[in-house]
Amino acid sequence: TRTPVNVTVTGAAGQIGYALLFRIASGHLLGADVPVKLRLLEIPQGMKAAEGTAMELDDCAFPLLKGIDIFDDPNKGFEGANVALLVGARPRTAGMERGDLLAANGGIFKPQGQAINAHAADDIKVLVVGNPANTNALIAQASAPDVPAERFTAMTRLDHNRAISQLAKKTGADVTDIKRLTIWGNHSATQYPDIFHAEIAGKNAAEVVSDQAWLADTFIPTVAKRGAAIIDARGASSAASAANAAIDHVHTWVNGTAEGDWTSMGIPSDGSYGVPAGLISSFPVTCKDGKYEIVQGLDINEFSRTRIDASVQELSEERDAVRELGLI
Ligand code: NAI
Repeated sequence: TRTPVNVTVTGAAGQIGYALLFRIASGHLLGADVPVKLRLLEIPQGMKAAEGTAMELDDCAFPLLKGIDIFDDPNKGFEGANVALLVGARPRTAGMERGDLLAANGGIFKPQGQAINAHAADDIKVLVVGNPANTNALIAQASAPDVPAERFTAMTRLDHNRAISQLAKKTGADVTDIKRLTIWGNHSATQYPDIFHAEIAGKNAAEVVSDQAWLADTFIPTVAKRGAAIIDARGASSAASAANAAIDHVHTWVNGTAEGDWTSMGIPSDGSYGVPAGLISSFPVTCKDGKYEIVQGLDINEFSRTRIDASVQELSEERDAVRELGLI
């Protein structure tokens, strides 16, 4: 029998947490043969609701779930963590400036990074979901100097999945026929979903679509603004789809990408594709044996270059802002 994997989830009492925990416990995060122990991290006001969710998890009698503990102290929440999903964050409220938002999230992700540094398992893998995800990941990473930098990642898999779905709808293809799609840059409205290297049933996606106006005026804005469209329709932000993407991100990281395909992850840049080293930006990556690598050698046309540069510029500005605040 395998030793259970410790999975820490922050923001466990929130709406993504509610959609996420049951799927982790039923084996979708790591694999149908991998036992897990859940460590739920909340703030004091969230503890009671987290306990309610833990009661429901008990009531599922999941065969793979070997324990649930709930904490409001990050030093305890990350103890022995092999996987950490950082979901809880400070949302932007009306009238809040970017600097205020980054400072408020620094107050969350800095202590969490420090706690990961001090208490997590040596093989810790971190996914930041809470927005602004890329820069929150940068803050946590900077606060965990003893953890290899590449273990800190930010989620752009929801954008990736949204883009696949929109492309499938446009072309009448099945989602499973679409490969090699890429989200570049920041998980924000500046992100760039790139179909120039994507394939639909083996054919180049941009050629299959062959509709530049749709690409520029419909596809890209639909994917980039999908979060706002969901809020508008549902009266609440994406939760089940975000949880699903978090599951996909970690599952792919741990279990690998399919031969001939890749995925999108926000990861520390090594300078590839002109993205300044150290920024946590979304790239096309392949995963194998629990490690990821940036797909190299793609030709970036001018249309793509402009959009990647704009999103990376935004990331640089966010990094400068958190540097000024002393958070990194
Ligand atoms: P929510 O507001 O329903 O839940 C957030 C939870 O985090 C709350 O229970 C709160 O008590 C908890 N929390 C706050 N500070 C905490 C801390 N320091 N430690 C532990 N827990 C803490 O929010 P929801 O809908 O679950 O979304 C969570 C985050 O995910 C938001 O920042 C949202 O913007 C982001 N998000 C990211 C997406 C992506 O694609 N990267 C997609 C959708 C949402």
